[in-house]
Amino acid sequence: MSHFTRPARSIARSPPAEITDDEDAPHGFYPRMSRCYSFARAAASGAVTKKHTDKGRDRSPMKDFAGKIAVITGGGTGMGRELARQLVAEGCNVAMCDVSEAAMAETKRLCEAEKLPQGLRVTTHVADVAIEDHLKRFRDEIAEQQQTDRIHLLFNNAGIGGGGSLFTNTREQWERTFNICWGGVYLGVRTFLPMLVAADEAHIVNTASVNGFWASIGMGQAHTAYSAAKFAVKGFTEALINDLRLHAPHVKCSVVMPGHIGTSIVANSRKVQSGDGSERLNADEVALTRKRMAAAGVPDADKMSDEDIQAAFAERARSFLEDAPTTAAQAAKIILDGVKAERWRILVGEDAKRLDERVRATPEQAYDRAFYESFTQEVGWRLG
Ligand SMILES: NC(=O)c1ccc[n+]([C@@H]2O[C@H](COP(=O)([O-])OP(=O)(O)OC[C@H]3O[C@@H](n4cnc5c(N)ncnc54)[C@H](O)[C@@H]3O)[C@@H](O)[C@H]2O)c1
Repeated sequence: MSHFTRPARSIARSPPAEITDDEDAPHGFYPRMSRCYSFARAAASGAVTKKHTDKGRDRSPMKDFAGKIAVITGGGTGMGRELARQLVAEGCNVAMCDVSEAAMAETKRLCEAEKLPQGLRVTTHVADVAIEDHLKRFRDEIAEQQQTDRIHLLFNNAGIGGGGSLFTNTREQWERTFNICWGGVYLGVRTFLPMLVAADEAHIVNTASVNGFWASIGMGQAHTAYSAAKFAVKGFTEALINDLRLHAPHVKCSVVMPGHIGTSIVANSRKVQSGDGSERLNADEVALTRKRMAAAGVPDADKMSDEDIQAAFAERARSFLEDAPTTAAQAAKIILDGVKAERWRILVGEDAKRLDERVRATPEQAYDRAFYESFTQEVGWRLG
């Protein structure tokens, strides 16, 4: 047991680590932020105190994003980009991070194409969410560039697929997916919690997936890293509901579970996994894709040339983006409406709703071929 153990009477009111409690605790009782940035200065000056934990108990949901500050991870493309655009359109300041500077520049350009209200800030920050030091640098840059010690909205949205098999993928690939999809969410909450608590009202939005309650992407493909990560995001966010209720009731949280959304995640995932930024598969990926297609029952997949495999991958990425039942813009609207309604579980798309119902109705059958085939037929999925 550490010497930081608190007396029992203060537990229910204790603030999260790194938040000072100027009434009950002697200075230094709670660990302080080691880095000097404006939030730490605000805390030291008494601007951020335990009083925040008494806020928001009877507060109505956050109906309006105007004038607020939102942090979005993975803002370069897809749902992150559309969240940024819609938030900016509502007059919300946005700070986004991504591994792709070029993609974020395009998101910023699109945000600015609508005439921004005067003084509204859209800032971009290169950061890998799996690396805590990158997130800390992102936080410090936000404090400086957005001139703030607090934020109102945190969208832990960055994620990649891939790395799904313990047999055919390397440990490095498996852990890259897991560390982005789970680690990025966990570290994002840890890093930004003090700034969320410092706001009058705040909301954490963690993106899981339907793979947060159903661990499959079809019969022909292993999907362990992504599913494990998304189940973790869902469990963490559900447990966070009460942690926040107890210690920071003015901060709410939601878990987002999208079905198939039209984004470039297929192409982006391989870029991030391989680190080469290329649109084309490397030799190992060509071999793996050929095997996966053969396992999925694609006729003569083992006889296809490398160029045919490249073309099949490009087609899969195109189809994932263009043939989806829900667009990224529609998904972002559903997510933001869910936040405004203060819903803790946000299912995105009719496919996600149907899958949720089916898994609840017949959990023991959820990984049977008949379940998969009947579900995909109903919603029109062509994945796997
Ligand atoms: N598209 C879908 O069908 C779908 C379904 C369920 C869940 N999701 C989840 O939604 C979220 C958004 O995905 P999307 O579909 O918009 O994909 P996307 O690829 O269009 O967007 C994800 C963004 O995150 C960025 N990114 C990837 N790794 C990163 C890292 N380590 N650090 C920082 N940024 C990183 C990418 O560069 C990209 O810009 C992800 O968490 C994904 O798992 C997507």
